[in-house]
Amino acid sequence: MTLDALAIRKDFPIFQRTIRDGKRLVYLDSGATSQKPESVISAESDFYRLHNAAVHRGAHQLAEEATDIYEGARQIVADFIGAQVDEVVFTKSATESLNLVAYAMGNAPVGNRFHLRAGDGIVVTEMEHHANLIPWQQLAARTGASLSWFEVTPEGRLDLSQLDSIINESTKVVALTHQSNVLGTINPLDEIVKRAHEVGAVVVLDACQSVPHMKVDVTALDIDFMAFSGHKAVGPTGIGVFWGKAELLADLPPFLTGGSMIETVTMTGATWAPAPKKFEAGVPNMAQAAGLGAALQYLSTIGIENIHRHEVALTTYLLEKLSAIDELAIVGPKTMDARGGSISFTFGDIHPHDLGQFLDSQGIAVRTGHHCAWPLNRKMGVVATTRASLYLYNTEEDCDALISGILDAQRYFAR
Ligand SMILES: Cc1ncc(COP(=O)(O)O)c(C=O)c1O
Repeated sequence: MTLDALAIRKDFPIFQRTIRDGKRLVYLDSGATSQKPESVISAESDFYRLHNAAVHRGAHQLAEEATDIYEGARQIVADFIGAQVDEVVFTKSATESLNLVAYAMGNAPVGNRFHLRAGDGIVVTEMEHHANLIPWQQLAARTGASLSWFEVTPEGRLDLSQLDSIINESTKVVALTHQSNVLGTINPLDEIVKRAHEVGAVVVLDACQSVPHMKVDVTALDIDFMAFSGHKAVGPTGIGVFWGKAELLADLPPFLTGGSMIETVTMTGATWAPAPKKFEAGVPNMAQAAGLGAALQYLSTIGIENIHRHEVALTTYLLEKLSAIDELAIVGPKTMDARGGSISFTFGDIHPHDLGQFLDSQGIAVRTGHHCAWPLNRKMGVVATTRASLYLYNTEEDCDALISGILDAQRYFAR
């Protein structure tokens, strides 16, 4: 099946509005957040309209319905990523999921498999979003473990030439992004996971830019922990997923403590409920979970493979058009080899913020700046870039609008 992006756009109410005095909305910023189909908006509002109650607690019909919806959403997530249902933890975002695992490791007492100390190593990469860098910096600072990283080549790929020395016998955690939000690079997980497991390290995958765009099966990838956000996968804001292998979640200490995450409590101590509850203190993001369930069902109905194919075709088209523009430099891989639909670029001496504002005046939404990846920007020798990121509702017409907007900007700023 080929994907009918024009039909898909009809499912998204936002595409019925216009931008900047009647212009068609050309939304090329799904890497930051995706738009939402009607089914997701209704699932979230129906939760409040029809079923609202605190899950897992009340002995009444609404509480039962709310619990069924919430736990049903967990099952949908588990099926979507090839996990067991009790391995799926709801958080408020990917940022919280990554903080959860890093902070929880920092809470691990001596004797716990996650306890870190001086002499232990944490490995990241130079292409991490700050959300998958700073929590590990903080964990290193708290525990005395050292932080090292894979560098990025000028083409925007991970330099794995030192794989065996960077991931070594002292490495306890390897945390990396599946797909770079800046470069679009898809990282070669197989060899990294294999090496990490050889030395007994766990692999934490930031899948924010991959789960919404391609088939990600945690079992097939053989990773240990994973994080992604609902809002980049046509789901609501305020909901993220933290996934971990069951036996690892069993040993990982909690992050937040309080109601719902306990087994027993006395005045002096408490024991923890098994995962996922151990990691879901308090009344959780129930309406948002309902929305996320609807989002993943929506993506499944269209077919994640179809979405991926559509994005590959569009990215190929856009890369070719952008490459033909004088003075436009793509920051990241220029071919489709292991690459997704985020394309960052610089354009002569036009500052990305000026370009972004100019494109916005034409109804074209792109992202400009450092994209929460300062070290990567420095490594690539840029202060900021303009980023176009594609999704299932984008068309060749959107790509053409971007190209003609860029050419108009060239004429405008040359005056
Ligand atoms: C690769 C990557 N990791 C982590 C995040 C953080 O996601 P959130 O802001 O939804 O927590 C983002 C968001 O842009 C991202 O692109």
